[in-house]
Amino acid sequence: MAKSSTRASAQKSSAKPVFVLNGPNLNLLGQREPEIYGRTTLADIEKQVRAKAKALGLTADCRQSNHEGELVDWIHEAREGACGVILNAGAYSHTSIAIHDALAALDIPVIEVHISNVYKRESFRHHSTISSVATGVICGLGTIGYDLALEAVKSKL
Ligand code: DQA
Repeated sequence: MAKSSTRASAQKSSAKPVFVLNGPNLNLLGQREPEIYGRTTLADIEKQVRAKAKALGLTADCRQSNHEGELVDWIHEAREGACGVILNAGAYSHTSIAIHDALAALDIPVIEVHISNVYKRESFRHHSTISSVATGVICGLGTIGYDLALEAVKSKL
């Protein structure tokens, strides 16, 4: 009895999509600094993420914005509309208290993703305003990091 009601509520929450949010300049993936970020485009990543989500029994709602406020609005939307958030906030990861505060108001899993290993790069990339309010952080593994983040969300549902 308890078991089936647990399963029912897990199904209910995973019926909501995982929001996969990409921040500034990530629309240029594939063209931008390919020696750091590789040749995979954002469209390729989103296709891969949707397929991975499907294989895990999830759905992915993929969005990208160059605007901090739009990312904040989407994180607010995730409060009711998502079962988890995967966020590569790009450079806002290192600066944005607004995104930190929006994430702090969520009670669903949040996985911060970076394609590059930010700790091998300039010191201004070594601090994240987001990590302290993320469930976990995946960094430096390339675009497979988004797939791993989906597995992490799934494991937390
Ligand atoms: C990034 C790392 C950030 O420092 C940078 O500003 C980005 C991409 C990454 O995915 O490795 O735009 O988040």
